[in-house]
Amino acid sequence: MYKVIKTDSNIVRPLRHKVLRPNLSYEASIMPLDNHPETAHFVVKKNSKILSVASVYHEDFEEMPHKISHRLRGMATEPTEQGKGFGAMVLLGLIDYLKKNTSAEILWCNARVTAFGFYEKMGFSILGDIFEIPNIGPHKKGYIEL
Ligand SMILES: CC(C)(COP(=O)(O)OP(=O)(O)OC[C@H]1O[C@@H](n2cnc3c(N)ncnc32)[C@H](O)[C@@H]1OP(=O)(O)O)[C@@H](O)C(=O)NCCC(=O)NCCS
Repeated sequence: MYKVIKTDSNIVRPLRHKVLRPNLSYEASIMPLDNHPETAHFVVKKNSKILSVASVYHEDFEEMPHKISHRLRGMATEPTEQGKGFGAMVLLGLIDYLKKNTSAEILWCNARVTAFGFYEKMGFSILGDIFEIPNIGPHKKGYIEL
């Protein structure tokens, strides 16, 4: 049985590093607000193995400055487990947490071009121009209203 578990930053970092920043140092997987009290980290596990991770930070969305916005980061599924629904599971758990515990109106992210399809399946709108994040690749902004 799988479930979404709220956890600590040091638990999500190894998979975040392996999937999202494999060519960078381990420190590159540490986000500035990882240990902020309003930040939350989530995993889906099978026994002790972590299958998917995602984190959320209280950060403004510059496209909608008057909305209460939180930012999704570190969205990653173990490569051998991708396409089995675990990314959707952890993201829905994160959204459920935001709805129950915060006043968030918007969840936004910098979406990799290669992941647009995932975010669109999850109900996100992708907008604006493509921009490059150094060492990581092309992205667009994505958001969903909560
Ligand atoms: C993007 C990612 C997190 C999705 O996680 P996942 O566990 O593979 O996703 P799921 O299996 O829950 O997929 C949910 C739905 O999105 C679709 N989907 C998943 N990844 C997709 C992609 N890259 N392109 C198009 N559709 C995708 C699935 O087919 C599924 O659709 P369905 O409901 O019709 O079956 C995962 O593939 C990953 O870690 N990719 C590499 C890292 C990355 O790009 N992260 C996002 C950074 S912005």
